[in-house]
Amino acid sequence: MLASRPGRRATLADAARGRILFGGDYNPEQWPEETWHEDVRLMKDAGVNSVTLGVFSWAKLEPRPGERDFGWLDTLMDLMRDNGIGVVLATPTSSPPPWLGRLHPETLPRDEDGRTEWWGGRQHFSHSSAVYRRHAAAITEDLAARYGRHPALTMWHINNEYCTYDYGDEAAARFRRWLRDRHGSLDALNAAWGTAFWSQGYADWEEILPPRHAHYLRNPGQVLDFKRFTSDMLLECYVAERDIVRRHTPPHIPVTTNFMPLWAGQDAWRWAEEEDVVSVDLYPDPRDPFGAQQGALVQDLTRSQARGPWMLMEQAAGAVNWRGVNHPKPRGLNRLWSLQAVARGADAVCYFQWRQSRQGAEKFHSGMVGHAGEQGRTYQEIKRLGNELALIGAQVTGSHSRGDIAILHDWDSWWAGAHEARLSTLVDHTRILTAWHRALWQARLATDFARPEHDLSAYRLVVVPQAYALTDAAIDNLLAYVRDGGTLVSGFLTGIADEHDRVRTGGMDARLRELFGIRTLHEWWPLDEGESVETDAFPGTLWSEEIEKDEDASAEVTYKGGELDGMPAVLRRGRAHYLSTLPEPDALRELLTGIAAEAGVRPVLPGLPDQVEAVRRGDLLFLLNHGRDAVTVELPGSHRDLLTQATVEGSCTLDRYGVVVLGP
Ligand code: GAL
Repeated sequence: MLASRPGRRATLADAARGRILFGGDYNPEQWPEETWHEDVRLMKDAGVNSVTLGVFSWAKLEPRPGERDFGWLDTLMDLMRDNGIGVVLATPTSSPPPWLGRLHPETLPRDEDGRTEWWGGRQHFSHSSAVYRRHAAAITEDLAARYGRHPALTMWHINNEYCTYDYGDEAAARFRRWLRDRHGSLDALNAAWGTAFWSQGYADWEEILPPRHAHYLRNPGQVLDFKRFTSDMLLECYVAERDIVRRHTPPHIPVTTNFMPLWAGQDAWRWAEEEDVVSVDLYPDPRDPFGAQQGALVQDLTRSQARGPWMLMEQAAGAVNWRGVNHPKPRGLNRLWSLQAVARGADAVCYFQWRQSRQGAEKFHSGMVGHAGEQGRTYQEIKRLGNELALIGAQVTGSHSRGDIAILHDWDSWWAGAHEARLSTLVDHTRILTAWHRALWQARLATDFARPEHDLSAYRLVVVPQAYALTDAAIDNLLAYVRDGGTLVSGFLTGIADEHDRVRTGGMDARLRELFGIRTLHEWWPLDEGESVETDAFPGTLWSEEIEKDEDASAEVTYKGGELDGMPAVLRRGRAHYLSTLPEPDALRELLTGIAAEAGVRPVLPGLPDQVEAVRRGDLLFLLNHGRDAVTVELPGSHRDLLTQATVEGSCTLDRYGVVVLGP
């Protein structure tokens, strides 16, 4: 059961206190004590006001079962206090010490093939293991009791990037209990999973397993429930530790755990409700021409989950070391992407990690202080950024901006639509979500994200790139939204299935068909990679549909030639629009821009050069030059650039990767 603390919830503002938190994961246990003092000097020079300690320190804190070694951490907490640097203290439970796995092999997770995930890496814990949970609770309890009231403590960081799956026996037992709670009876479970197919009927709860390796396609309902179960088990682990640290801590200290961006394993909407601060780790590829948009997408999503300021818990100051080829960030890019996060609501800009390691699996992953040390370009740029963030902190923090457009995104739908037996594996939820967000981002239209069940009434436009599985409540919500004056644009494969992944009668929910003016959805026609379908307006990609429309719906765009000749590619009934294909990128952008304009949504600033992004946060306007060439932007009125204190009148020039933060 999830327990919540009564009374006011702590927020990021409690930790940040009018500043932008700046710093990162600090792993001093990898370094001799002299280095700690050098670290503090460099941190202060760079305006670092926050470090995250202890993320992977379990073996150091508890070298043998039940032993405690807090001496080194005492020294560090005091060192940070003495130097005015706040500590985001992590519970070390994402990387158990070797002794735990050796003495209690049941704490190690199993993959779907039954292979054990051994220690020697990290995150080798079973969320379902009672022994793991007991040991995690014990070290958390002692850590919280010791530091819960330490003056350096500003925030708790629980575990790290919860992301493990477990198909082992203890997980199987918990899965059964979870299923009993969800379905109530075996009859209900058999009905929900459609076990009449392939002789899968369950007569005893003990027969049910996680969806382990099987000869052929696994039951979609079982796979879907297992994803929900996994997210819930990890959440239970988080909540258990959160509640322990809260018991030992004054109420103004917030608790967080860091999400991986768009990670399939956690229903982040649900998790965000259990956090005081929503935080995310963000690592776009510096070579990706759409890296800035990838960042913007995750930032929009995280801000929407936080419903206010959020924390960029980790990013890289330079290269990561987990891509095939790992490129550094060119000069200025780290600053640009950091300020982009601030523009989109981040009140904390942090990194993995402070000092680049010399050993271990991440020694080639950049740090704020790289192998080149103090004189290295990376640290020098960090120092500039830290000092700039300190300049603008007071004006920026706490403010929140909402977009006029909501993009619907939902984990249940993502999970259900990802089953291995679908019509096209090219139809990938994140790929489509990214394509739609990119179109709106390029059009400089400000976007939020929402769940299909959320109150959408504040948005002028709601877009649904893909919501394969929708509950009745979600469908009612969409219908009410349009009925009450909202404009809705949906992509294909929306409302196909219910929450148990049962295809709705007619191949798509009847109420949605009526909303969009689809009389009959005869067939789906998926397209191959690189294939396109012709229409009278643009090439369609990925998918197409054989649709017969209702008489009072209008075919805005029509398929041309081939099997679908004359059928609607874009269909409209009133304020409800339906796209049965994915228009190629420019066409999608134009289409959405046109519909947005009709709904009264305008770009943040009209007429911007392509490489410039404009983002409003409160009454500030951020202009971000994503290009390597300087560019001049025309700007009506007179403004003050918070970064330089210069007055900007008529126009302003942004250098390569340049940023201005304009105040009234
Ligand atoms: C994150 C993780 C960090 C570090 C980083 C490297 O996923 O939380 O501990 O591994 O990636 O990019």
